[in-house]
Amino acid sequence: MYRYDATDQRLVDERAAQFGDQMARHLAGELSADDLRPLRLQNGLYIQRHGPMLRIAIPYGALSATQLRKLADLTRRYDRGYGHFTTRQNLQLNWPKFEETPAIIGELASVQMHAIQTSGNCVRNVTTDQFAGVAPDEVADPRPYCELIRQWSTFHPEFAFLPRKFKIAVNAAQEDRALVLAHDVGLELVRDDAGEFGFRVFVGGGLGRTPILGKELCAFLPRRHLLSYLDAVLRVYNGHGRRDNAYKARIKILVQALGVEEFRRQVEEEWAIYRDGPLTVPDEEFDRLAAHFAPPAYQQVADAAGERGELDRLAAEDREFGRWLARCVHGHKVPGYAAVTLSLKKTGVAPGDINAEQMDVAAGLAERFSFGELRVSHEQNLVLADVRLPELPELWRSAREAELATANTGLLTDMICCPGGDLCSLANARSVPIAEAVQRRFTAEREHKLGDLSVNVSGCMNSCGHHHVASIGILGVDKRGEEWYQITLGGLPGREAKLGDVIGPSFRAEEVADVVEQLVAVHEENAQPGERFADTLARLGSTPFRERAYAGRGRHLAQERKPADAANNP
Ligand code: HEM
Ligand code: SF4
Repeated sequence: MYRYDATDQRLVDERAAQFGDQMARHLAGELSADDLRPLRLQNGLYIQRHGPMLRIAIPYGALSATQLRKLADLTRRYDRGYGHFTTRQNLQLNWPKFEETPAIIGELASVQMHAIQTSGNCVRNVTTDQFAGVAPDEVADPRPYCELIRQWSTFHPEFAFLPRKFKIAVNAAQEDRALVLAHDVGLELVRDDAGEFGFRVFVGGGLGRTPILGKELCAFLPRRHLLSYLDAVLRVYNGHGRRDNAYKARIKILVQALGVEEFRRQVEEEWAIYRDGPLTVPDEEFDRLAAHFAPPAYQQVADAAGERGELDRLAAEDREFGRWLARCVHGHKVPGYAAVTLSLKKTGVAPGDINAEQMDVAAGLAERFSFGELRVSHEQNLVLADVRLPELPELWRSAREAELATANTGLLTDMICCPGGDLCSLANARSVPIAEAVQRRFTAEREHKLGDLSVNVSGCMNSCGHHHVASIGILGVDKRGEEWYQITLGGLPGREAKLGDVIGPSFRAEEVADVVEQLVAVHEENAQPGERFADTLARLGSTPFRERAYAGRGRHLAQERKPADAANNP
């Protein structure tokens, strides 16, 4: 894991002190609320529906046990004893006191953490695969590249006030677990025939009210040019992005307006000026960063195949353990080791929420079983990346006691869900109670039988809950002051990313769980052996699903709903 050097530490300490001073001047009446606003946003401090919200950065989702313990401690002393992990691998505190936020930021600095650039129109937290460095299907560890981008983008003076926020994701694996096509810039680490590392660069992806998948900007960018090329992309965007309309200000709109060929031409023209200049990254710098992510001291597991057999025997004896093994234990580069998801998706708890006690337990589990480190996944779960196979049963027992072992990774109840109307001031509708109502319809038995199936919820068209790329997406819409929900079908994350299609008029809150159940039933009744929901949908087309969703509803109702839905359809 990356450890701060003296420069990094000074940077976060100075920023904490500066923010403390700004807040003190505000509280003394010397700095107006309007003047404080851009300053607090640069430190992740929002004002939400019920009060302040602080978004803490977790760079590319990497977290040490010490840091997680500190977060637990902070939620106890300054908040209501819990936090919310987001799809962008950050942590949100929903109930801090406004005047206490500088103290929180000061304490974060003591464990090499901060809230810098978690808000505002700047380069946000870089995200990546939660299995980075241990995934059997990756070409190399993407984290040194994420760290390089973090260092380049932090306080980059030219890109502090972009037309709009800017999100970069890096993936290095065969399966795209970072969703690179839904980011302003998506980077795929690849190796050319000569063995040189470089990036396939995508641009102009994003969800939100105008969802667009990224387009290829460069087929192979040698890694030494990564920063100069990103600089060129951001310069073109900074110069030509729409500052007149917040809804049209993301880079995706610029790329769409210019066409990717013209955008590429402008980037290359800009890049030509300084492509071999001081931003060129020498191999030694990559080596220096990679040293921070050197593999931990793995122990030899004498008989990995035998251990696997023993786990299968235990799984056959105990169905609950078997389900956990099947869903929450993932492949690892090193024989005898596995990566493990600690699920934050227990029915009845807001997806991604974790309380202080669980944070302490998870930190302890990381220390006992996984070299003291954890990751946050964009699906809003925690991951222990380096667990020895013989220790899995013991880990499972301890995680289960803390309600961190729900065996649902990738299943229907592993829903991505934004805070919605319960907390967010931009919401059209609540999302957490809808997620819970859906989760309650499905027993463990049934969802395990269903297999991979994503159902995601966003409380408004900003799409923080990734509903566009779920098999079944649920979007809160406001209709004459009431909460309604629009359903999309057929979205896919990953390399084959696809945006779902709206199935028709929206539904009342109390109808949503029924509709999801009906959609799933069409799959259950028609699936061929081994078919997942997405496969059945692709084979049958959406008509039978659509018809079932609206079966039994009066035609007049559907007609009446059309105009308002059209207005809300992103
Ligand atoms: C509660 C406070 C939040 C506010 C005010 C907020 C606001 C927004 C807004 C305005 C957008 C659309 C931006 C645009 O298209 O220009 C957006 C996008 C997004 N947010 Fe949030 N968000 C919040 C919380 C979250 C949470 C909790 C998550 C993760 C669970 C999240 C993840 C995302 C993602 C993934 C996108 C879409 C990707 C994109 O930027 O195009 N946000 N958010
Ligand atoms: S999708 Fe809308 S309601 Fe949900 S967190 Fe984002 S802005 Fe808020």
